[in-house]
Amino acid sequence: MNPCHFSDSRRSFLKKTASVAALYLTPTLLVKAVAADAIIPLPIPKEKLHLTINGKVFDLEIDARTTLLNLLREQIGYTGTKKGCEMGQCGACTIHINGKRTKSCMQLALNNQNNQITTIEGLAKADQLHPMQQAFLKHDAFQCGYCTSGQIMSAVACVREGQAKNREMIKAYMDTNICRCGAYQNIVDAIEEVAKSGAKI
Ligand code: FES
Ligand code: FES
Repeated sequence: MNPCHFSDSRRSFLKKTASVAALYLTPTLLVKAVAADAIIPLPIPKEKLHLTINGKVFDLEIDARTTLLNLLREQIGYTGTKKGCEMGQCGACTIHINGKRTKSCMQLALNNQNNQITTIEGLAKADQLHPMQQAFLKHDAFQCGYCTSGQIMSAVACVREGQAKNREMIKAYMDTNICRCGAYQNIVDAIEEVAKSGAKI
């Protein structure tokens, strides 16, 4: 190997390092060099989305990065679905997609092209509460209520999927939903009652 090549590389490396160091040592110069109006924001990528929410058809143009949770709450106005951890841990954002329970904070809205979404607002029939909503009221299955819409959406799925045959099964299915008020006992009571009633939900 040519020894000159080595020393040339070393020289140019030292030059580059010195100029980078100079930039860090003179932050005001650096700030002056980048004028504020030279920063051009990138365009927000927009995409078309067609889906049905609680029986209503929506044709939307959305920021491609929007989660389903944010779409529901901030664009459509269905604020019954709650935002807790936004990390798939608490279950406050639980909804149904094509009948299956899902944590909406973990879903990109765009991945729901043509899907059928049901939120807590879609459970009652006009003034008639859903049997699970009635059971939660009867059994006092909440305190602050923040987790309740997610609990009810999971509870409906629990009964529909045949996972409410006994209290142990109910507890196992519902362990995706956290209640910071600790209303667990009453939540299980409510689900057990609906499952035993045989009500079509
Ligand atoms: S907000 Fe979605 S799981 Fe907590
Ligand atoms: S009722 Fe308060 S967090 Fe569950």
